[in-house]
Amino acid sequence: MDRTLAIIKPDATKKRIIGKIVERIEEEGFTIAEMRLARLTEDEAKGFYAVHKDKGFYGSLCEFMSSGPVVLLVLEAENAIRRWREVMGATDPAQAKPGTLRRAYGFSIERNAVHGSDARETAEWEIAYFFKKK
Ligand code: CMP
Repeated sequence: MDRTLAIIKPDATKKRIIGKIVERIEEEGFTIAEMRLARLTEDEAKGFYAVHKDKGFYGSLCEFMSSGPVVLLVLEAENAIRRWREVMGATDPAQAKPGTLRRAYGFSIERNAVHGSDARETAEWEIAYFFKKK
């Protein structure tokens, strides 16, 4: 079993579509191992997205990610990382395939409704960032 971190971003929580996204996660066969509503500080968002710190969109992204509630989830499935990325679709909603969450619910390349880890090492790092072992 693989694990991935998923985030329902502030644009999606504001639109009151947490339920629709969680329903899709369950329909796709993922097991929700952890789930928590959170309000990230800008510093928490900066730490989480530190790999992007040199990108032009970093400041705006961190401001957006701390602008409202998010839902943090740990999803388990065979090939969870790849499968969740397929369900999300491309980063830019305009490029995402029909039927994907970002195509359905994303507003822009920044306000793209959901996040997912991109590799096994990053998944473990991202999960540990928000879900510390007790
Ligand atoms: P996410 O999968 O959370 O990973 C990095 C985030 O940066 C991405 O989704 C978008 O929300 C945001 N972002 C904003 N602009 C860009 C861009 N030009 N390219 C990639 N990601 C971007």
